[in-house]
Amino acid sequence: MTSAPSSTAARERDEQVANRNAYRAVIERLSKASVDKHWEPYRDIPWDDPEFQVDQTDPRWELPGVDRLGGHPWYLSRSPEVRARIGLWRVATAMKVGLQFENLLKRGLLNYAYRLPNGSPEFRYVYHETTEEAHHGMMFQEFVNRTRLPIRGMPGPLSVVAQVAPWIPLISTELFFVFVLGGEDPIDHVQRRLLKDGRVHHPLEETIMRIHIAEEARHISFARHYLRNRVPRMPAYRRLLLGIASPIILGVMARIMLAPPGPMIRRFRIPASVVTEVYLRNPAAKQEIRDSVGKTRELCAEIGLINPLTRRIWQVMGIWEDAAPSAPR
Ligand SMILES: [Fe+2]
Ligand SMILES: [Fe+2]
Repeated sequence: MTSAPSSTAARERDEQVANRNAYRAVIERLSKASVDKHWEPYRDIPWDDPEFQVDQTDPRWELPGVDRLGGHPWYLSRSPEVRARIGLWRVATAMKVGLQFENLLKRGLLNYAYRLPNGSPEFRYVYHETTEEAHHGMMFQEFVNRTRLPIRGMPGPLSVVAQVAPWIPLISTELFFVFVLGGEDPIDHVQRRLLKDGRVHHPLEETIMRIHIAEEARHISFARHYLRNRVPRMPAYRRLLLGIASPIILGVMARIMLAPPGPMIRRFRIPASVVTEVYLRNPAAKQEIRDSVGKTRELCAEIGLINPLTRRIWQVMGIWEDAAPSAPR
């Protein structure tokens, strides 16, 4: 039997050891789960099955009426073929932006793992995550190729700026995992909502979404546990800097992930007034951006990254919500 701690300091030390052991156990569980349940796109997706072929005019690509663009009179007045192409364009662009983000993420994870000491439990998990993200990249690109649409990802200048992301772990590993959540949470939010909308989806899209959601749950869990473990132990000034940088990164990332594709707007000549109405001056669009970072916002509050100063930055970035109930993860 363990004897009772003789002082507050001893009790705190015991708590630290218990927390450290619990954190280690989570990482080991995630690593094991990556071995037990994972998918390979060229083994587990029947790309050549007739049911899985991508037809640009398939009505299943049409945007639903509850979608902001899908319910707009301009969209509804297009022909069924154009409506389907616009829907497919949007799905494929989300995958292209997703695979570009995950490309930056993989390079960052490897930069992080490069410096990890022997015996670090994070090393193995980060390699599992990098492997899974490599599969996601192939899966998304294969889908984009099969649409035969000229899909582009992030706008050029943004893509140039984004090249700094893989180097963030050299400055702060904590900031890097905030960046990770900044990309993964909005994608996950959109994909989960899509699968729950009660519509009949194209089987290829549905299979890709299901695989992605299942593996991303582990990645998001790792990033959250990492931040929970590390941030409370950071020196106060570094925590303040992280608290300032986090809402800026999260606000920018959510917009990148949820923005309407420029080439799609040009290709289908979507009038500027429709774009403004649907995406820019629409309270529902702003709410979606706030909702997409909801879980990360709660985590930031929990680990002490939100104070009156940083809350102001969240508000300025348009991602603050006073009461934001959502399911704990
Ligand atoms: Fe992924
Ligand atoms: Fe991921």
